[in-house]
Amino acid sequence: MDMEKVNSMDFGEFVDVFGNVVERCPLIAAAVWSQRPFSNSEDLEKHFFAFIDALPQSGQEGILRCHPDLAGRELQQGTLTAESRREQRGAGLMSLDAAERLRLAELNAQYRARFGFPFVLAARLSDRAAVPGELARRLQRPPAEELRTALGEVKKIGRLRLADLLGAAGLAGP
Ligand code: GUN
Repeated sequence: MDMEKVNSMDFGEFVDVFGNVVERCPLIAAAVWSQRPFSNSEDLEKHFFAFIDALPQSGQEGILRCHPDLAGRELQQGTLTAESRREQRGAGLMSLDAAERLRLAELNAQYRARFGFPFVLAARLSDRAAVPGELARRLQRPPAEELRTALGEVKKIGRLRLADLLGAAGLAGP
C-alpha cells in the first residue's frame, strides 16, 4: 500500500485499516487521521508514537490495559484480535504445555498486581522460551522505568503492524 493510497483514505477506511496498530486503541488512528497527509511511513509512524508520548500517565497506562495477557484467557477463549493472535502464535505461545501456561499465568498475575497493567512484550521479537524470563526480569524493575519499557514495546508492536499493512515498499518510503 503506498502513501498516496493512505492519504486518500476517508476517516472510516483509515480507522478500519489502522485501528489496531495499537492494540484495541482505534482512537489513536482516529486522531492520527487528522494529521494527514503523511510524507512516508516513518512520518505516519511518528504521528502514532507522538500521540502515545503526549498522553498523561493515566492514558498511557490505559493503552497498556487494552492489551490481553500473553498466553492468557483470551487466547484460550479465542477472543484475541487477529493481530495479537498471529503474534502470539508466531512466538509459540499457542502451543505451551500445561506447566508453561501455569507459570506464565502466575507471572502475568504478579506483574499486573505490581504495576496495575498487563505485561506487554513485542511477541514477534521473542519466543516461548524467552517470555517467562523476560517477564520475571521486568517484574523487578521500578514502576516508572517499567512504564517506559512497556510503552516502548507497544511502539515495537505498532511498527511491525504498520510494516505489515504498508508492505516493504511502504516501509522504504518515497
Ligand atoms: N505482544 C504482541 N501482541 C501482544 C498482545 O496482544 N498482548 C501482549 N501482552 N503483548 C503482545
